[in-house]
Amino acid sequence: MTTVNASALSVIDALTAHVALLDAQGEIVAVNEAWKHFSDANGSRLPGYGIGSNYVGMLQRLADAPVGGACSDGDDRQIAASVAVGISSVLDGRATRFQMEYPCHAPWEKRWFLLTVTRYPPGSHIRVVVSHENITPLKVAEQQARDRGLRMVETFSTMVEAIALAIEKRDPYTAGHQRQVAVLAVEIGRRMDLHDDQLFGLHLGATIHDIGKISIPAEILNRPGKLSTPEYAIIRCHPEVGHEILCGIEFPWPIADMVCQHHERMDGTGYPKGLIGTDICLEARIIAVADVFDAIISHRPYRPGRRMTEALEELRNGRGRIYDADVVDAGLSFFSEVGDDWHRIHRRDADDIHPLLHF
Ligand SMILES: [Fe+2]
Repeated sequence: MTTVNASALSVIDALTAHVALLDAQGEIVAVNEAWKHFSDANGSRLPGYGIGSNYVGMLQRLADAPVGGACSDGDDRQIAASVAVGISSVLDGRATRFQMEYPCHAPWEKRWFLLTVTRYPPGSHIRVVVSHENITPLKVAEQQARDRGLRMVETFSTMVEAIALAIEKRDPYTAGHQRQVAVLAVEIGRRMDLHDDQLFGLHLGATIHDIGKISIPAEILNRPGKLSTPEYAIIRCHPEVGHEILCGIEFPWPIADMVCQHHERMDGTGYPKGLIGTDICLEARIIAVADVFDAIISHRPYRPGRRMTEALEELRNGRGRIYDADVVDAGLSFFSEVGDDWHRIHRRDADDIHPLLHF
């Protein structure tokens, strides 16, 4: 059997990762102390900690073993097969390095390891170094961070629902309008290839885009007939009032901007700031189109809803000038797909959208 000099052994003995040195045939020529401790602690019955055995051959036998035999399940067999392929690729020179994370759970704890296979310097009978590093604390921390993130998202979602409910208690029309705009905005966003996280934020923002109307007296909000100039000025304040209400909350999405900018127009003719083009955030440009469409087709106490064709005509006329061209195209594509089914989607409760987001 080949031997390894003392200095190489003392280097690998200093490492906490479980390290094995393999020769050109994949035979284990040396292991470090951490490897031995791990083998002892896990009841490994490999004679001599595997020294003198062919490591790649052992992995291949594990990969080929029937489920319930040497390997506990199909996942273990798959891991053994992947590790064997990775080590072989470095052994025969097709790769200089191979890495993979894999679970290796014990009955008493869940564990994860990082496998690293590297080439040994030329001129030695040793060909590769195989290292298994316990990365369980890192994986546990990652999982905890993911759990915290999910809890935070649930909290934001609940907060927005509470705000929407508060609006509904006072002004059922605005609440219903916001829900419909949220559904439509997500359908448009999906056709613009927004990722799930962005769609979720868009849905939240659209659900409360008119929150600022909470400051408008109900008799102005729903009064039939032409509004006076001061009354119209009060209504035009609602995006900024909404922004004031929301800007202190650190959402992971630009919710306050969506609310503040949903009446801005691409050519600068909107309000409150007269922003132009892409100075308006994408979500606000989407909400603007969904908002106009729903406002046109919806019944109000002081006027009946207009036909869907009229709403689509408004979008086509304003495409690229008042409304973002890509957003209008996505909206038109959606309506051409759903056709007469629009009313079914139109009435769908906003809660239905959450599973669709796969979030
Ligand atoms: Fe609005």
